[in-house]
Amino acid sequence: MMGCSVQSNAVSESKISRVITIPDKKINLEVFTVTKTTKTNAIHTVGNPTSMTVMVNKTNALPKGYRPKDLKRPKVKFLFGNQNLEKALLRKPAATALEKMFKAAAAQKITLYGASGFRSYETQDALFKREVAQYGRKKAEMAVAFPGTSEHQTGLAIDITAASVQYHTVEKFAKTKEGIWLAKHAHEYGFILRYPKGKEKITKYEFEPWHFRYVGVKIATTIYKKHIMLEEYYSKSGV
Ligand code: DAL
Ligand code: ZN
Repeated sequence: MMGCSVQSNAVSESKISRVITIPDKKINLEVFTVTKTTKTNAIHTVGNPTSMTVMVNKTNALPKGYRPKDLKRPKVKFLFGNQNLEKALLRKPAATALEKMFKAAAAQKITLYGASGFRSYETQDALFKREVAQYGRKKAEMAVAFPGTSEHQTGLAIDITAASVQYHTVEKFAKTKEGIWLAKHAHEYGFILRYPKGKEKITKYEFEPWHFRYVGVKIATTIYKKHIMLEEYYSKSGV
């Protein structure tokens, strides 16, 4: 990605030469050279954290301490009612788009609830540690982002739920009328279903039918129509 700085080594390479010795002729022949590539978990720091289209994932982290400056509370229903919580916040353009989306859904008798929007680095850190303690590191990493690498810290992502799943964020949300409506219409409001089923190898997260990410209508529509991930959008468009 453009404007990245690397926090750790991406790839370590080592050259292996195979030498054959022919004793009678007293010569050594170097017959081939192998380049061994070992992938380590490289984490780049994104250079465009405030962009609506920033890609944040396991290898693209937000700058340390990043906190968006235009957080506001969208006028939508939250599962925690009117409580004044940080997780009710989203960046302004995402908040406006969310209001439109929830209104359009309501017009179709689809009642949506915000569950969790913005999360600070510290909140994500606590969530990650809790998940590791409960399920172990490997499982936790498939479900909760390492602090600094969560889209929730961008203020552009929100978990959405409904009464039909008792306001939980669970896989069966995908099969509810609310989950189905969202998967079909979110792009019209600039949101993408960020961690779809069957794309785990690309997203590196398990299916999350409740997690929507604001990227703007244009990119969201391209991603929806081409059935691609944000990672593929960037690798294909060469941005
Ligand atoms: N559950 C998503 C991956 C997050 O923690 O940001
Ligand atoms: Zn989420």
